Amino acid sequence: MATETGKNVILLPQTNQLIGLYSIIRDQATKRGDFVFYSDRIIRLLVEEGLNQLPVEETLIKCHGGHEYKGSRFLGKICGVSIVRAGESMEMGLRDCCRSVRIGKILIQRDEETALPKLFYEKLPEDISERYVFLLDPMLATGGSAMMATEVLISRGVDASRILFLNLLASPEGIAAFHEKYPEVKIITGGIDEKLDEDKYIVPGLGDFGDRYYCI
Ligand code: PRP
Ligand code: URA
Ligand code: MG
Repeated sequence: MATETGKNVILLPQTNQLIGLYSIIRDQATKRGDFVFYSDRIIRLLVEEGLNQLPVEETLIKCHGGHEYKGSRFLGKICGVSIVRAGESMEMGLRDCCRSVRIGKILIQRDEETALPKLFYEKLPEDISERYVFLLDPMLATGGSAMMATEVLISRGVDASRILFLNLLASPEGIAAFHEKYPEVKIITGGIDEKLDEDKYIVPGLGDFGDRYYCI
C-alpha cells in the first residue's frame, strides 16, 4: 500500500525494488537505454497507484456455475495530460494500463535562467471537465510548471479534486508551493527528496529528466 504522507500526498511504498530502480536512474553513470527502461518501470507503478485512487462502486459478478463474486468497477472516465517535453515519457505507461485513453498536451518550459515556467501551447480533450485527469510530469521542483498546467485544467472546467498529478520525484518546496495553491489535487510520487539547489534542481535528484530520457 502506498503511504499518504500528508493530505493528498501519496508516496509509493519505498520497497527494496523501488529503491533499486531509483538507484539506477539517479546514477549519473547510467546510460540512456537503462535510464529509459527503469524510468518506465517506475512510471508504470505510478500509473497503477493513480488507478488505485479512483472511486469505484460495488458490482455483483456472475461467475461460472452461477457463483457470485462481489467485485468493483471504476466510476467515471479518465484522460491523461502531459506537460511537454518530459511529461510525454509517461504517456506510454498510461496507455499500457488504459486502452485507448485520451491524452492532451500542455507545452510548458522552464526558463533556464530564472526557472520560471512559460506556457506555449495546449490541446486538451473537449470533454475534459467530465473526466479524472492524470497530469503527467516526472519532476516537481519549484512547482511552477505543475501550477501553471493545473491553472489551464481548471480554466477548462476540471475540478481540482479530479486531478491526480503523477511524478517520479518531488521536492518539499515544490509540494508545499503546489498544495498552498491547489490543496485538492492529489500528488502521487515515487520519491520526495531533500531540497532544491541554487539552480532550482532537485537534490539529490537525478539531473535533467527530459535530457536524460530523450537526448543524452
Ligand atoms: C522540467 C520538468 C518539469 C519542470 C519542473 O521541465 O520536466 O516540467 O522542469 O520544474 P518546476 O517544478 O520548477 O517548474 P523543463 O521545463 O526543464 O523542460 P523539459 O520538459 O523539456 O525537460
Ligand atoms: N527539471 C528536471 O528535469 N530536474 C530537476 O531537478 C528540476 C527540474
Ligand atoms: Mg517539463
